[in-house]
Amino acid sequence: MALKDVMKDIEGYTRITEEIQTLRKYGSDFTDRKGEVERMMALLHPKTVPLVVSEIVTETESTKTFRLTARGGHLPPFQAGQYINVFLEAGGVRTSRPYSISSSPTQTGYYDITIRSVADGFVSSWFLEEARVGDAFESTSPSGTFTYNPLFHGNDLVFLAGGSGVTPFMSMIREVACKGLDRRIHLVYGSTDVKDIIFEQELAQITQRHPNIQVSHVISSPPKRYRGLKGFITAELMQELLGDLSAKTFYVCGPEVMYGFCRAELEKLGVARRKVRTEVYGPPRDVTSQPGWPGDVKAGDTFSVKIRGGRTIPARAGEPLMVSLERSHIVIPALCRSGECSLCRTKLMSGRVFHPEGVKLRKSDRQFGYIHPCMAYPLSDLEILL
Ligand SMILES: Cc1cc2nc3c(=O)[nH]c(=O)nc-3n(C[C@H](O)[C@H](O)[C@H](O)COP(=O)(O)OP(=O)(O)OC[C@H]3O[C@@H](n4cnc5c(N)ncnc54)[C@H](O)[C@@H]3O)c2cc1C
Ligand code: FES
Repeated sequence: MALKDVMKDIEGYTRITEEIQTLRKYGSDFTDRKGEVERMMALLHPKTVPLVVSEIVTETESTKTFRLTARGGHLPPFQAGQYINVFLEAGGVRTSRPYSISSSPTQTGYYDITIRSVADGFVSSWFLEEARVGDAFESTSPSGTFTYNPLFHGNDLVFLAGGSGVTPFMSMIREVACKGLDRRIHLVYGSTDVKDIIFEQELAQITQRHPNIQVSHVISSPPKRYRGLKGFITAELMQELLGDLSAKTFYVCGPEVMYGFCRAELEKLGVARRKVRTEVYGPPRDVTSQPGWPGDVKAGDTFSVKIRGGRTIPARAGEPLMVSLERSHIVIPALCRSGECSLCRTKLMSGRVFHPEGVKLRKSDRQFGYIHPCMAYPLSDLEILL
């Protein structure tokens, strides 16, 4: 049967061809709109977003908010809870780190990112100490799926935040407050000390004006005579604060240790796994303590990595391969730096790497030897194809 005959069986084919003929007859057949979709896509999801630091706000002793505006263009829209991966040059090395956008998506003129310095942190320390108003960066366009989905999440939400993990929640809370949305939110926010609480005043003001938004601070190392909630976000504490959990959706974002802890506590309360959403959190602090790490390889062991058709570079077992590449001034595409997005997917020609639990390798990646260098740790000499 000829292709033309088959096409006639497709629903709508005849109507569309007739419409094309009519349009051609009267002067327009949509070819004048060629490229329109691509242009729209480039506006909504550009590959890179040129940014400049317009303002810096000190939030706590160890945390600052950087207000980033567009350098001669516009900012692509985002959903509350998404992050951008910021590329920068620190200590002579080009690298990147993902940061959640803490401002509301209703503000289209800027992205706020709120960064807490971590002990021996490379980029966070650079931001806290070196970044200045006027500094220029590039980032990816906003990404990530740690966002509210009205079809599945209902309108009774519990946010479990630890430290700087409050940032995506701040964006969600600001949006709900700004638009007056019909969503109940209870933020249970764990901090080490009272002075470490980020956005304390603004959160207090929002809860005063919006009875659908509640905030409970939980302090793990409180000062003497502290009267508020102390310790960690345990099952007992959640039961006491939240009452009936049956219709609630839980979101968790915070330091690595918080995920396993909160999951176990929520399990004690009978909360189903599908009701718990977690943000990705980047490389583990100490990969050698991850389940499955081979005991005979030490974090400081150094292997050689041959790049097919190129140089051979050193790589420490305890560091993600992406970091070793960047140390040798080889920058590969990156977005989540958490093993989730697949953007850094690279062919491993020979050798062994360790991927911590949770890295989202596809079945075909495993079968054909692809790795995610942002979360792949060398266990032997390697050869890779970039
Ligand atoms: C989706 C997502 C959202 C996030 N949102 C936030 C947020 O809102 N706020 C926030 O504070 N954090 C956020 N983070 C964490 C953030 O991305 C960084 O992990 C954090 O700032 C720590 O980065 P760091 O470089 O300071 O520390 P680390 O990443 O711990 O720095 C140490 C790393 O840098 C390497 N390194 C050290 N020296 C060098 C060098 N000379 N050259 C190259 N590499 C070197 C080390 O080997 C090690 O791997 C988020 C993470 C994710 C995944
Ligand atoms: S950067 Fe996302 S998987 Fe590596």
